[in-house]
Amino acid sequence: MSISKEIKRITTNTLQKMKANGEKISMLTAYDFSFAKTFDEAGIDVILVGDSASNVMAGHETTLPITLDQMIYHASSVIRGVSRSLVVVDLPFGCYQGNSKEALISAVRIMKETGAHAVKLEGGEEILESVKRIVAAGIPVMGHLGLTPQSIYKFGTYTVRAREEAEANKLRHDAKLLEEAGAFAMVLEKIPAQLAKEVSESLIVPTIGIGAGKHCDGQVLVMHDMLGINTEFKPRFLRQYLNLHEQITGAVQHYIRDVKSNDFPSDQEQY
Ligand code: KIV
Repeated sequence: MSISKEIKRITTNTLQKMKANGEKISMLTAYDFSFAKTFDEAGIDVILVGDSASNVMAGHETTLPITLDQMIYHASSVIRGVSRSLVVVDLPFGCYQGNSKEALISAVRIMKETGAHAVKLEGGEEILESVKRIVAAGIPVMGHLGLTPQSIYKFGTYTVRAREEAEANKLRHDAKLLEEAGAFAMVLEKIPAQLAKEVSESLIVPTIGIGAGKHCDGQVLVMHDMLGINTEFKPRFLRQYLNLHEQITGAVQHYIRDVKSNDFPSDQEQY
């Protein structure tokens, strides 16, 4: 009898069970097949195809320029590398804020054209109708509150959000509304740890923090930041696990030396 090694996929239900059991959720961004495959094999719970692709893949200053077609390209590449992780895709700026019908059409395109498992939208009460409509169509929605980079020109700065009571109260209210509208989880970005703790404890669905302290139900980082590919971005919340920029620079310089000195390829490296 052969014992089949079936992979147990992470679902939105798995994440809610993890919260209920006190098990933290790990999430990283990825934008292509090879990194997604590596992260999936390493055991990451959730892969976010973030619109941070606009920054780290395309070199834009903000997340605003990336298009729905470009997000679909990144997400379909990621999906081909994944067999276990839950894959969540950001709805990019301008393809859901207009109205809930437009939001649903954009979410459906992501699900149909990429094979991803869920979408993420930034905002609270303002986008509630869209969240409800997408959830009603059977598409899982992850929320995103606090620092929402698609609104950077409204905020004017990337500093910590919701320090003031009025903004903290709105965030508490928005988190409840998103949960009631059917969001299965939400990202809390760059808010005080105490507020993130309170919100996390008030919700049944998990919170995933980035710069929101240790009491969130999970954590997310942008892969280029945590792997040290991008070394210019050093916010206090970031833990850098590698210095790939240094290692890659060293490897490329080594290769250049080997080519120039005729050391590469050797007799064994040719046909
Ligand atoms: O686009 C992104 O990478 C994100 C994370 C920072 C949460 O939204």
